[in-house]
Amino acid sequence: MRDLSGKVAFITGGASGIGLGMAKAFSRAGMKVVVVDIRDDHRAAAEETLARGGAEFHLIKLDVADREAWSRAADEAERVFSRIHVLCNNAGIGVLTPIAQATWEDWDWLLGVNLGGVIIGVTTVLPRIRAHGEGGHVMATASLGGITVAGNGGVYSTAKFGVVAMMECLREDLAAEDIGVTVLCPSAVNTNIHDHGDRRPERYRVDSSDLGPHDAGLDPEMLKGMLASFGSDPLEVGRQVLHAIRHDQPYVFTERMAKGLIELRREALLVLIPDEEPDLERLAADRAMRRALTELFG
Ligand SMILES: NC(=O)c1ccc[n+]([C@@H]2O[C@H](COP(=O)([O-])OP(=O)(O)OC[C@H]3O[C@@H](n4cnc5c(N)ncnc54)[C@H](O)[C@@H]3O)[C@@H](O)[C@H]2O)c1
Repeated sequence: MRDLSGKVAFITGGASGIGLGMAKAFSRAGMKVVVVDIRDDHRAAAEETLARGGAEFHLIKLDVADREAWSRAADEAERVFSRIHVLCNNAGIGVLTPIAQATWEDWDWLLGVNLGGVIIGVTTVLPRIRAHGEGGHVMATASLGGITVAGNGGVYSTAKFGVVAMMECLREDLAAEDIGVTVLCPSAVNTNIHDHGDRRPERYRVDSSDLGPHDAGLDPEMLKGMLASFGSDPLEVGRQVLHAIRHDQPYVFTERMAKGLIELRREALLVLIPDEEPDLERLAADRAMRRALTELFG
């Protein structure tokens, strides 16, 4: 989408960090923004910031893991601004739980928000973008941990790899339509991602005292300090996403560090591929089989 002026963006997790950075960058480019977030304190602070900046915005409370609430939120956005053109599935929780110690509750919480939220978002809003026919863009915030695995963050990375795969596939699905797709894979960004403290929702607690993350004992204060020292500026990330939407760029990486990590993964994969000549006949047969299956099942 080249011409974004007057277009409407719906941003989940839009009241803090990267989401708020996008809201600011988009509104400075003349867009209207629907800022959707579960946290009352974040929405209140975002309201002040966006109003001060002269943004045209609307705030909605939403838990992205709640299907019915998604439909109501999308209806509300359309009532206020008529249409949604740009969907930003950005809400996420940065709890880094190792797979070997994850409980059912950890899987349900982290996959429910970090992957489930994106699935519900696309399923709810994409048909609405298609219906108005004015073109649009779908983006999701994954992580560099959705391209290369990050230490103790197994459950988080499982969700984020899913988000990357989903956006890559959706981009192919929509290739012939006027709807672009981008996945944002940030490295460290200076946000409130460290602040999940005692916010584990009731339905994901093992018992009533189970309020916090089940992570590898990562100290939130230390993480906060690291992000403040090394993290990118969320507004700058918002500008990178704006550029990606204008140029229909498939990925956004926020800094050079991504390059080394992706090269390491690429090497680790390539070294294990058998060295013999590819069997061209078999490749052709595989391709024919895939075409036949696509024709059969759509
Ligand atoms: N900050 C980083 O270093 C970093 C790196 C890689 C990826 N990410 C990803 O960026 C995205 C944004 O995170 P951030 O760093 O801006 O953190 P943040 O905590 O500042 O912002 C996230 C926002 O999402 C909201 N949110 C959380 N759960 C929600 C839910 N169930 N429904 C609706 N809103 C919900 C929070 O209230 C918060 O306002 C996340 O998906 C995160 O995984 C962040």
